[in-house]
Amino acid sequence: MSIEVVRTVADLRARLGDWKCDALTVGLVPTMGALHDGHLSLVRRSLAVTGRTCLTLFVNPRQFGAGEDLAQYPRGEAADVALAEAEGAHLVFAPRPEDMYPKGFATQVAVAGLGDILEGEHRPGFFTGVATVVAKLLVQALPDHAFFGDKDYQQLQVIRRLVADLDIPVAIEGCPTQREPDGLALASRNAYLTADERRSAPALYRAISSVAAAVAGGAEAAGACAGATTVLMEAGFSAVDYVTVRDAETLAPVTDANRPARVLAAAHLGQARLIDNVAV
Ligand code: PAF
Repeated sequence: MSIEVVRTVADLRARLGDWKCDALTVGLVPTMGALHDGHLSLVRRSLAVTGRTCLTLFVNPRQFGAGEDLAQYPRGEAADVALAEAEGAHLVFAPRPEDMYPKGFATQVAVAGLGDILEGEHRPGFFTGVATVVAKLLVQALPDHAFFGDKDYQQLQVIRRLVADLDIPVAIEGCPTQREPDGLALASRNAYLTADERRSAPALYRAISSVAAAVAGGAEAAGACAGATTVLMEAGFSAVDYVTVRDAETLAPVTDANRPARVLAAAHLGQARLIDNVAV
C-alpha cells in the first residue's frame, strides 16, 4: 500500500485519531522537505520508538527573512514522499501555505532570550517563524513524540522551551547530526555549494571539533574560537558569523566549567550559509 499524503488538519487528525483509537503511539517528524539522510534518520528513530510515524513537508515562509532563499529553497514533493515511504513512514502531512496561514492569521510564538541570540541575532524573525510553525504542527497533530536534529541545535533548544512554556504534551527528542564521510553535516542547503566549495566545507566541522578538544583540554574558549575563525577564513569561507562555546541548555556564555557546553558556529561559503555544532 502506498503512503498517504494529507493536506488538511481535518484529514491529519482523522488519520492520527484512528491510530490513537488503536492505542498506537504517534511520532511526528517536521521537515521542510528536500529530504536527506539526516531527515530519514529522524524517521528511523520515530519508527523505533513509536507505533506510527507522520512526516511533515512544509517550506515555512515565515522563517525566511527578506533577501533569504525562500524562492530557491530546494523543493520536490514527489521525491520526498517516495523517500518517506521507502523508509517506512506511515503518513505525510503536506499542508498548503494558505491553509497554514489563512487570511487574517495574526498569532506569533516568540521564544524570548533563547530565540534572540546567535541565529536569532543573524536571522531576525527566524525563530519566531520556526516556533510559530512548530507550535502549530504540534497542536495540529498532538503526537506523543516529535523528532528534531541536533544539527539545528539552537532550534532544538527553542522548541524544548516553547513546548515546556505552552504545556504542549509531547516528548521532544533530539537526534544525532548525520555527516558525510568527510565530516560535513548533512543539510538541504549543501545543495548550494559548488564543487570547490564542497571541498572546503568540512573545514567547519574540523574547526569546531578542534575548539571542543582545546576547551575540553583546558584552553580558554575565546582564543580557541578566534583561532577557528582564522582557519575558516583561510579555508575559503567569506564570513564567519560566530564560533562560540555556550552552555548546552541555555546557550548563554559559559560561566560554570562543570556544566555541559556546546561549540556552535555559522559561516558563509559561496551562496551557502553553513551552521554546525558539537558537544565539548
Ligand atoms: O528544521 C527544519 O527543517 C524547520 O526549521 C522546521 C523545524 C521543520 C520548521 O519549519
